[in-house]
Amino acid sequence: MKKTYVLLSIVALIIIGYSCKKSKSQSVSQLELDLPATPYAYSSVSFGDSMVNKKATLGRVLFYDSHLSINNALSCASCHKQAYGFADNVAFSVGYEGKLTYRNSKNIANLEGDNGGFIPPVVTLSSNQGLPLFWDGRETALTNLISRPITNHVEMGYPDFATLPQKLSEFTYYNKLFTDAYGDATITTDRISECMSDFLASMNSNGSKVDQFINSGNQGVLSPMEYSGYLLFTSKYNCDNCHHIFSSSYTEADFKDIGLDANYTDMGRGTISHQPTDNGKFKVPSLHNVALTAPYMHDGRYKTLSDVVDHYSHGIQSSANLDLVLQDPSTGKAKQMNISDADKQALVAFLNAFTDYNMVTDPKFSNPFKIK
Ligand code: HEC
Ligand code: HEC
Repeated sequence: MKKTYVLLSIVALIIIGYSCKKSKSQSVSQLELDLPATPYAYSSVSFGDSMVNKKATLGRVLFYDSHLSINNALSCASCHKQAYGFADNVAFSVGYEGKLTYRNSKNIANLEGDNGGFIPPVVTLSSNQGLPLFWDGRETALTNLISRPITNHVEMGYPDFATLPQKLSEFTYYNKLFTDAYGDATITTDRISECMSDFLASMNSNGSKVDQFINSGNQGVLSPMEYSGYLLFTSKYNCDNCHHIFSSSYTEADFKDIGLDANYTDMGRGTISHQPTDNGKFKVPSLHNVALTAPYMHDGRYKTLSDVVDHYSHGIQSSANLDLVLQDPSTGKAKQMNISDADKQALVAFLNAFTDYNMVTDPKFSNPFKIK
């Protein structure tokens, strides 16, 4: 009796195991697309290239396709989620094998800096002349960036980017997409990079209240509380010393040490430049959709915007490369901003006004695969 029971359980387990495996591989190979007949206008990337919308459409599919990871476990969008301003909602994201990323995922918005608006870390599509990407600025060209997460041993685990075209050619939907974008179905790593960069470069945010206020100069766009936050941000606390909300283009790489720790655990920019004076410096983050991109900082240490403001209020540490604007000139030590509760509330209200609801719901940036 007992034996039969054990035997039956084993058979049941084998069946369950088999069907799980089967359903997993099925869900991977049976992806179906739901694309509009006429491609969406990814207008900000139209450099007179009429194919650009088709390339960006293909880039969107690649961005959401989990086949870009070695074990089909995750896509770019697994760590860059539209609902969270194309960042992740955890301090460290889970990679293809369950290992955690080394830093907090970054939001994606206005990478190319061509919105004529604000906070644009200008990046070039293909040359190396652009300004920095990643928390430490280790990459400057979008087209070069694409292979990084795909080959990264924690993120998507592809040992050799050059073998990706072969794998993608097995999926019929790419036949049509590459033919639409290039006139033939050949898949190359250059084409993959170009299409994905066209898509990334089109991911612009300029519909938030702050954008509208800055573009129109009409202060009525902001609530009185948000407007007072804006004044505190730009004058009393000089946050815009680093978070340039007006400049139409960054002309210098901006890496700053804001005194998160007295002793660095992550050297940030210093790991790239090998200059001790760059240790503990990180790229000044764009504030687009900042209310959606929690947790905050390169290591996701702060859960809320209020925690971030508390840091500037009374948490600044006297670290070796602490930025001058956060120092007391007479002592060279950290100078706390001592932000009152009312000011804190207004600053947080202003930061909340950076949310661009259009961008985070725009179908042209959404998952193009049919969800079953
Ligand atoms: C497992 C999670 C994960 C996956 C998958 C992933 N990323 Fe990221 N991404 C991150 C993290 C973490 C960072 C920040 C790393 C750093 O700056 O050191 C980042 C940074 C970026 C940035 C830099 C943004 C900026 O402002 O500097 C871009 C662009 C980007 N990723 C695009 C992509 C693309 C395209 C893909 C797919 C090919 C992808 N990511 C896949 C986690 C991920
Ligand atoms: C000296 C330059 C500097 C000043 C002044 C400054 N910031 Fe920052 N800010 C940074 C840098 C650099 C980071 C990222 C630090 C890191 O992760 O190591 C950052 C991070 C942030 C973040 C988190 C963004 C994210 O995506 O994780 C917010 C929000 C923010 N700052 C708001 C403010 C406010 C509000 C003020 C004024 C009270 C201010 N900052 C003043 C340089 C500055």
